[in-house]
Amino acid sequence: MLDFDINKNLTADSCISKQELSAQFFQLQHLLQQRRAIKYFDAAQAMDDRELDAILASASQAPSAFNLQHWQVVHIKSAQRRAEISALAYHQPQIQQAAALLAIVMKKNVWQTAAHIAQAGGEKIQMHLQRLYGDKPQLARDEAMRSCAMFSMLVMLAAEAAGYRSCPMSGADFTAIGKCLGLDATQEICMLITLGREASDNTIARQQRLPLSQFLYRI
Ligand SMILES: Cc1cc2nc3c(=O)[nH]c(=O)nc-3n(C[C@H](O)[C@H](O)[C@H](O)COP(=O)(O)O)c2cc1C
Repeated sequence: MLDFDINKNLTADSCISKQELSAQFFQLQHLLQQRRAIKYFDAAQAMDDRELDAILASASQAPSAFNLQHWQVVHIKSAQRRAEISALAYHQPQIQQAAALLAIVMKKNVWQTAAHIAQAGGEKIQMHLQRLYGDKPQLARDEAMRSCAMFSMLVMLAAEAAGYRSCPMSGADFTAIGKCLGLDATQEICMLITLGREASDNTIARQQRLPLSQFLYRI
């Protein structure tokens, strides 16, 4: 149990006046405070593919190392695949209940083949990437993970803004799920994301956050 009151800390952390920050900041702050990792979804509520496409297109504005956009999204629509993935994710209820189940896949070697880099007159960049990542597969994977995590966060925020709730998930056997999805050695799952409407009887409490004083260091 953490030894602070979330509301007290939120007030203490956000004592800056409305005049000092833009209205846009407060809108975003509201969205950030509203987003929660939802464990129970309303299985009767579907999501239109066009809505999902709009969410994913917005999220693709995410930054990525060298703009390599390391992400691929697998939208798992097949009921059979969902059931298989549910079993590989400890039967967490979100997997079967959510309107959409996404696997965010990292393209770990995308630096070798990124056509858009080459098109952007990027021969020099390509050489630089070869020097940077050529003998450092772990660094290439780390960069893919960082970039895909940024993308994933934006998927959840865009979904929240569109009226959907979300849950990021890594509590699963990603190796087995990768096989189930037919991924090859250059691909790896960054995380699963479920999206949908929250179940009306979901009562999961808001998770607390540490106050600034416990994570901010000014040196
Ligand atoms: C990398 C990562 C993996 C997570 N895996 C799971 C998961 O497997 N199942 C789950 O219910 N929540 C999962 N979560 C959600 C966290 O439990 C949740 O974000 C955290 O408790 C804070 O709650 P909040 O997001 O509602 O504020 C994961 C979150 C992250 C960032």
